[in-house]
Amino acid sequence: MIHLDANASTPLLPEVLEAMLPWLRDGHANPSGAYAGARRAREAIEQAREQFAKWIGAEPDEIVFTSGGTESVNTAMHSLDRLTGPGAAVVSSIEHSAVLRCAEGLPRPVKYAPVDGGGRLDLEKFAALLPGAAMISVMAANNETGVIQPLREACMMARERGIPVHSDAVQLAGKADLKVRHLGADMLSFSAHKFHGPKGVGALYVRRGIRFFPFHHGGSQENGRRGGTENTPGIVGLGAAAAALRSRAQEHTTLHLMRDTFENALLTGLTGVSINGDPVHRLANTSHLSFAACEAVELIQLLDQAGLECSAGSACMAGKIRPSHVQLAMGLDGARGRGSLRFSFSILNTLADARNAAEIVRQAVERHRQGKARGVHAGVVSPCGMAFS
Ligand SMILES: Cc1ncc(COP(=O)(O)O)c(C=O)c1O
Repeated sequence: MIHLDANASTPLLPEVLEAMLPWLRDGHANPSGAYAGARRAREAIEQAREQFAKWIGAEPDEIVFTSGGTESVNTAMHSLDRLTGPGAAVVSSIEHSAVLRCAEGLPRPVKYAPVDGGGRLDLEKFAALLPGAAMISVMAANNETGVIQPLREACMMARERGIPVHSDAVQLAGKADLKVRHLGADMLSFSAHKFHGPKGVGALYVRRGIRFFPFHHGGSQENGRRGGTENTPGIVGLGAAAAALRSRAQEHTTLHLMRDTFENALLTGLTGVSINGDPVHRLANTSHLSFAACEAVELIQLLDQAGLECSAGSACMAGKIRPSHVQLAMGLDGARGRGSLRFSFSILNTLADARNAAEIVRQAVERHRQGKARGVHAGVVSPCGMAFS
């Protein structure tokens, strides 16, 4: 199989697995214990904190380990909610459901900041929402389109008004250079399985000086910021992934090369292919493409059978295909949305994967178009793999 669904999840790097194995095998000691095994676990957790902090340009005491991106988002949003007075929560209209559903559960109104046709936050319209806003959440890069958001600019505008900002950086980490001080957000959410670490572990960056309110109440773990016994193997894996990616930062250019090779082969080998999303401000690994006269949910099955894993750009619920909220926000028309697929590369893919994948897609699209012309359908599966993760 060729896995081009890194935005959904990435495989563990071999060095991450190696780092985790001893902790999975013998790491039963509770890091809060008072004996040598427990102290070793605590040290391993603190080492992971340093590795992760170094990678994102933060201080170790600015990092809170969590159970993943969703928990980090919920923690940040609830903390900002308690910190701030009355006023709206302003979120971009293309946020992941973790942010959208969390914002909608807060006891304050939610305002949605629009994006342009390329899926980028419209800064003018965003600025117009700031009077009356108490807290903000703008993602760093979108999971469906890979479009990188003008987060730094949004943070500067918010800072002028003293409004705190959280950013869901789950998709940016590992795919672009990320330094928290440069971005300027007060809190940033991360998830290890999106950058070659294990699932079920994440991190929240909390800028020094901003008041923090825990979301998980319990023991005094994480400096009183998150109750619950730490996931030692997971945290060690997250730290190892951060350390590995820090030393492999130059591989972003390989991601670019793979993605461009793939796209160029399809743009020249097929008709009716278009790239969705801002062509300049895009993650190096993500290709969100529309295939004219195609149904993505059927294409996905053909690709799966041919050995290629990717995600549909639109959702299929109970046999009905509907555009995603991101497509709607970008104003992507129905047919173009229905025929859209997301391909997302990781540093474990190769240039040969990119070439082979393009050929597999080319053949699948031609087969699907011929079948459609003859009225033959592959049948619709429900639920289908979609780019919402
Ligand atoms: C942008 C974004 N935010 C948040 C999440 C949630 O992360 P997790 O799966 O670790 O809960 C995801 C994962 O799908 C994501 O893509």
